[in-house]
Amino acid sequence: MKKFLAVMMFALMIATQARAAEFEMVEYSAQVKLQWLAAAGIPEAQKFLKLIDRPVFFNADNLQDFERLELTNSLYQELNMQAAMEFVRENNYKNVMDLACSLSPRAMILGDEGRKVAVGELQTVCLIGDWCLEEFGSKKAVKNVWYDAYWLQDKAGMMKSADSLKGEVCIIEQGVMIYLADDVRAQMYENLRDVLKKHGGCLITSDFTQKKYFTDTAAALFGEQNAPTLYNETKAMYEKVFGDKIADDLQDEQEAMEFLKTHGLTARKVPLFSKPPTLHISGKLTPAQIQAVNELTRKDYLWVITAL
Ligand SMILES: C[S@@+](CC[C@H](N)C(=O)[O-])C[C@H]1O[C@@H](n2cnc3c(N)ncnc32)[C@H](O)[C@@H]1O
Repeated sequence: MKKFLAVMMFALMIATQARAAEFEMVEYSAQVKLQWLAAAGIPEAQKFLKLIDRPVFFNADNLQDFERLELTNSLYQELNMQAAMEFVRENNYKNVMDLACSLSPRAMILGDEGRKVAVGELQTVCLIGDWCLEEFGSKKAVKNVWYDAYWLQDKAGMMKSADSLKGEVCIIEQGVMIYLADDVRAQMYENLRDVLKKHGGCLITSDFTQKKYFTDTAAALFGEQNAPTLYNETKAMYEKVFGDKIADDLQDEQEAMEFLKTHGLTARKVPLFSKPPTLHISGKLTPAQIQAVNELTRKDYLWVITAL
């Protein structure tokens, strides 16, 4: 019996290491996002990072201005995560598609609330995502969350994932568009329009305002003067991770609305939060920063996109 247990333990250890190693192949931006969410104090992000067991990407030794960048990015990521969850709750969506969200702390939380969450990601991320669900997902999360492997430009793949949900769907898309080539982004929006036409519901994103929204987030923490520098430093940091230039186009409202119209979609702008949120990161902020962040959360950075 002792020998059997030892063999089982060894096999489990090897399997765990193999799964963790696979994460090296995953888009690194996914890991960086988790790093910021973990630093904000999101327990689910901390659990993902612990499990995949990779060295953190950025630290004070390899990133100039690390402290300010960490706080700004952590706040921005937590606001994004919590705002999307609040929107889903307030509009009582039972079905969520979390698009290209990497390992998804919010899917764990929304799934635990009894909502169905289909996470759409690349194959490698899906494998790790399913493993993490088994490892630390609650019973409800394990039942309600699944990772579907498809490219955002894959029409049939996205629709198949949507069809696994019954009823109207809230699609969350954040922080992905900026990485996509024009033709891929256009195809993604065509696919999204088809899903919304068939299933009803909406797509929420802050990607069309991300430049202003991120800059305002930095200003809330470190003042207007420093904010453009923090935006540029963050962009350079992600370009290093991505290994290519990041386009921050479609940041002009009229241009973005036109773009959506050409893809059969329309948008309305809503505040990030309807009331001041309770944020994990608050413990790291001064009272003046908290007040500035509360003002920020009332701004219309979130776009609710529906089919025309
Ligand atoms: C920065 S992360 C996304 C952040 C996340 N959406 C959020 O809300 O914080 C980018 C993710 O997009 C995924 N990805 C990139 N290109 C993709 C594509 N063409 N199709 C599907 N997933 C893609 C990567 O695997 C990566 O996990």
